[in-house]
Amino acid sequence: MNRPEPVSTDTALDVERVRTDFPILQREVHGKPLVYLDTAASAQRPEAVVEAVADFYRRHNANIHRGVHTLSQEATEAYEGARARLASFINAPSSAELVFTRGTTESINLVAQAYLRPRLAPGDEILVSRMEHHSNIVPWQILCEQTGAVLRVIPIDDDGALDMSAFHDQLNERTRLVGIVMVSNALGTVNPVREMAAAAGSLDIPVLVDGAQAMPHQAVDVQSLGCTFFCFSGHKMYGPTGIGGLWAPMDVLQAMAPYQGGGEMIRKVTFEGTEYNDPPGKFEAGTPNIAGAVGLGAAVDYLEGLCMDHVAAYEASLLDAGTARLLDVKGLRIIGTAPHKAGVISFTLDGIHPHDIGTIIDHHGVAIRTGHHCAMPAIAHFGLPATARASLGLYNTVAEFDRLAEALEHVRAMFA
Ligand code: ALA
Repeated sequence: MNRPEPVSTDTALDVERVRTDFPILQREVHGKPLVYLDTAASAQRPEAVVEAVADFYRRHNANIHRGVHTLSQEATEAYEGARARLASFINAPSSAELVFTRGTTESINLVAQAYLRPRLAPGDEILVSRMEHHSNIVPWQILCEQTGAVLRVIPIDDDGALDMSAFHDQLNERTRLVGIVMVSNALGTVNPVREMAAAAGSLDIPVLVDGAQAMPHQAVDVQSLGCTFFCFSGHKMYGPTGIGGLWAPMDVLQAMAPYQGGGEMIRKVTFEGTEYNDPPGKFEAGTPNIAGAVGLGAAVDYLEGLCMDHVAAYEASLLDAGTARLLDVKGLRIIGTAPHKAGVISFTLDGIHPHDIGTIIDHHGVAIRTGHHCAMPAIAHFGLPATARASLGLYNTVAEFDRLAEALEHVRAMFA
């Protein structure tokens, strides 16, 4: 690949100030200051999120939508307030169109079973790309087994970019849904989802966008994307684990079957039959992760305070600088060199297994992920079982990429 010129990371984001918001960044690992480059697996949380969750449990904890007492009303307001802030964060027309789920994985399974399953006949096609996370492959494979539908795969090129001409050729009258990742967790590729949604939309084919890795890196506007379903996870965007969301237009949600039965998703239950609640309650059976939602609302406040455009600009320059720094390491090959990338640098080091890399550099205080990144087909495309992956967040610095590069030099020296 052409090596990008190192660029200045001077932007409107004051990264040194941002770092003080994240208590965990002060700790040491194996006696060295922590360098956390595994944000794609799970981001660290700012104090504001930790505090919002703790404050909820300390002062407001109760079940929601179920009590007339003060605590229950406060808890309901906190939960629904978080929903409204998230809806506004992604520019959803209404907060009632935002369903809380456990995260992207559950959101995709919900769409597969509650939306697509009743609409599929044998021979119908579902189109996904080769760079999908397993969570945007396996739910569709299960659905194909259940219905006789067929999963088709958009190829990628050797840079890890989507083959858009194949995508256009593969769209046809049997296509019932396109599932596409907005930012690849394994390669960092940013896909042209707006263009894809427009092409599919012109044939009335719904598009599901896996936005898990997009939400922490850029402003998202679901109306301008033009997709039918948008899925995301709280813990990738500096919020708690076990909470995330699904957005879809109200008419689509209303036309969907329920996903799980239980409390909250009903209006009236008798043994003769059950009337379902309106969305989003219809898809939120059981007591949800209330504190998680509150923490996610705090994460949204935090990101809005920084401004996502500033975050995106800072991270773009950091990605360029980090890429240039890593390419100085002899024998290092970057996997995923698409022209549009965000947040992720996957790489190999000649003759050294990624797990060895990850284990050794952990002793230098550097945390990265190694393996297939829950995207085996994407990694297999490059003839590999695994890569090492540095993934960045809004708190990372060029100096941390220097630490990574130095640690990699130690690895090389050990295997020389
Ligand atoms: N999907 C997460 C990752 O990329 C777990 O590491």
